[in-house]
Amino acid sequence: MNLKIISATDRPSSWALRISKYVSKLYTNEGVNAGVVSLEDFPLMDAVGGKYGKESDRIKSFREPVLNADGLVFVIPEYNGSFPGILKLFIDYLPFPEAFQKMPMAFIGEASGAFGALRAVEQFQMVANYRNALQFPERVFIPRVSKEFDPDTGLKDDFKQNLLESQVSEFIKFVAANTES
Ligand SMILES: Cc1cc2nc3c(=O)[nH]c(=O)nc-3n(C[C@H](O)[C@H](O)[C@H](O)COP(=O)(O)O)c2cc1C
Repeated sequence: MNLKIISATDRPSSWALRISKYVSKLYTNEGVNAGVVSLEDFPLMDAVGGKYGKESDRIKSFREPVLNADGLVFVIPEYNGSFPGILKLFIDYLPFPEAFQKMPMAFIGEASGAFGALRAVEQFQMVANYRNALQFPERVFIPRVSKEFDPDTGLKDDFKQNLLESQVSEFIKFVAANTES
């Protein structure tokens, strides 16, 4: 099984990337390969000017590991009551309509605010739904992220840490069930 964790912002030193790296380790502990893809590395310059439909080799090679994954975990911060613009741009440069068809997806929201990016994740789920993804129902929301998350030990709240660990083990089963031929 090959999963990818998408750190869904291009903000340098983001919590999304720190959480993604931590979650990647949780998957490794379960014997599953789940590398991190950071949207900080999206070749933005290749999209300047609105290159929709014109293929760029750099965008193609950036998106390839995502398209070839058996499942995706999105780590999404809340920006202005929604998900970051770079995430929508990334989606808009995927092949249409085939990308994300029946792709298993799990979601982790994180924000400095009290709702832990609930709005951002739910808005992104509307896009995932439009692209016919298979959405794993156990979501995790991390509010006041700089206080509640430690990059080495995870969530300081035991209840939430258990939710995160449950998402990891149950998402592996969900992906396995949906990749059987
Ligand atoms: C452009 C921008 C908009 C933001 N809007 C919100 C918001 O609507 N709600 C919120 O709780 N935090 C908001 N934040 C704060 C982020 O939640 C905060 O940066 C947090 O660390 C998670 O984002 P990160 O993964 O970029 O670190 C915003 C941050 C940025 C950079």
